[in-house]
Amino acid sequence: MCGIVGYVGPKATLDVVLAGLGRLEYRGYDSAGVSVIGENGKLETRKKAGKLANLRNSIAENPLPSSHIGIGHTRWATHGAPTDGNAHPHLGGTDLKLSLIHNGIIENFAELKAELVAAGTVFASETDTEVAAHLIAAEYARVGNLTDAFANVVKRLHGAFTILVIHEDEPDVVLAARCNAPLVIGLGDGENFLGSDVAAFVEHTKRAISVGQNQIVILRADKVELRTFDGEPVEACEFTVDWDASAASKGGWSSFMAKEIADQPQAVADTLMGRLRSDGSIWLDEISGFSTDDLKAIDRIIIVACGTASYAGDVAKYAIEKWAHVPVQVELSHEFRYRSPIVTPNTLVVAISQSGETMDTLMATRYARELGARVLAICNTQGATLARESDAVIYTHAGPEVAVASTKALTAQITAGYLLGLFLASARGATPRTELAKIGRELLKLPAKITKVLDGLEQAKALGTEMANAKSVLFLGRNVGYPIAMEGALKLKELAYIHAEGFAAGELKHGPIALIEAGQPVIVIVPSPRDVDSLHPKVVSNIQEIRARGARVIAIAEQGDTEVSQYAEDVIFVPQTLPMLAPLLTVIPLQGFALALATALGLDVDQPRNLAKSVTVE
Ligand code: G6P
Repeated sequence: MCGIVGYVGPKATLDVVLAGLGRLEYRGYDSAGVSVIGENGKLETRKKAGKLANLRNSIAENPLPSSHIGIGHTRWATHGAPTDGNAHPHLGGTDLKLSLIHNGIIENFAELKAELVAAGTVFASETDTEVAAHLIAAEYARVGNLTDAFANVVKRLHGAFTILVIHEDEPDVVLAARCNAPLVIGLGDGENFLGSDVAAFVEHTKRAISVGQNQIVILRADKVELRTFDGEPVEACEFTVDWDASAASKGGWSSFMAKEIADQPQAVADTLMGRLRSDGSIWLDEISGFSTDDLKAIDRIIIVACGTASYAGDVAKYAIEKWAHVPVQVELSHEFRYRSPIVTPNTLVVAISQSGETMDTLMATRYARELGARVLAICNTQGATLARESDAVIYTHAGPEVAVASTKALTAQITAGYLLGLFLASARGATPRTELAKIGRELLKLPAKITKVLDGLEQAKALGTEMANAKSVLFLGRNVGYPIAMEGALKLKELAYIHAEGFAAGELKHGPIALIEAGQPVIVIVPSPRDVDSLHPKVVSNIQEIRARGARVIAIAEQGDTEVSQYAEDVIFVPQTLPMLAPLLTVIPLQGFALALATALGLDVDQPRNLAKSVTVE
């Protein structure tokens, strides 16, 4: 949470910083602020509660001077309400010449604040962040060198933080420190950038360095230095960003979410590219570090993830168990971390995260590694902490996902889960290769089939608009349809703020059926009638049970399922595929439904209230 941008170079700093904040606003939008050091040598700051647009308006009324160095912040509030006063940057020292922004939580801020108050410091905000600003300013006054002062203070801070500082008296340097919160450097020609992720600067440069734990960055226009908190030089590890800057813009769509829903055929195709050959055989170069013996020795897989990513994990569980015959458990990262899981060197922990910065998932993977497990990440963001801290990474190639509610990242994660299942099954000889090749060939057809679902998305959207006044919507699914039901409910909660629950259809009679009353909308993911496990008649029976009690049923069913039409008011048909692969199709109408319902309510679908896309605190 919180987006951070820093810039030093010849461009108009305000434009660079505001554009970067625009691309990072998904990380938090409780307030936004910038500080620049103008050509007159003076530090100037503007900050405003609410979305970035408020800050832009305030700068339009009260312009900032032209400048070549600046920092900017977009906030997801932790300590202190989302007010103008608590917005970052925070100023330090009695002369207020130092400006600081922060992402994270300084856990020992109370004792540090007490120390400062005792020394007579007057605080302007309720934040933990302001403590760091005053401490660094005081230390600078004592030692006379900004970098030394900065290094001395960051060592005293506990918790999670990325901090950026500029100071009027050293107007050519941005200092940054990173501890348990993300930070990436963008390398330009005579200019350099800092950002919470590469989206902040990808329009200017594709050369990047991911900053490691407990490291300090000394950023000048012509030079970037990295040091440990103890002052040891660090060799930078440069990488090339493969995101296209235009992918992070709306490109004529009404919202990022609408665009990202439409991006899904490409996201799935790109995630398959180079990994699945046209004959259906698979090669995952990324896990070539695991020998066949290693893969055969795996006796348990634990998938850790949060939110939508955990539903991708649930789908992967069905696929891996069926194809590779390895027991899989899916754990919410924050639950896994704080119990005593059974983990051995033969346990493979798979961490799924779009951002690769979700703190709960990072803590879970660190814990798993401490316990001796190997960690494989499924991640969408190059240079992310999760990727750095895992033994291997399968990147999803969904491109930047900006809308807070995840769509294309989910379908790309599900795709990566299938690839992993196929690869493990092949390496372990668990399923005949001919069968795996058949699944692989069908997987290659999924981007075109998703396009077909998108072509008919208006039906799901019309139903969403029609149900804008619903007080609650229930979702039912079975087998791989169950996580999709939960995802459908999550999308609706996130976007429309209405009560929504996803249930396993078989669980209905054990309690949830009591919720059904006349007119209750229920969306049912109907399994294929061609499925050998014959779940179809069971789910059709469930539909009859709820209809008998007055439910308004919308079914998501496969083309050719003539039976279901008799029992549901509305049926949204999706193309036929292998039942295991159906989630890539059935989830799409649920995304369209939630998007349309929230839009009909006049809500901001890209930036829902109280949420942040990347939750970098525990
Ligand atoms: C937040 C977002 C969700 C997302 C979850 C996991 O809660 O609001 O949309 O699914 O984090 O994010 P990750 O980046 O780890 O996939």
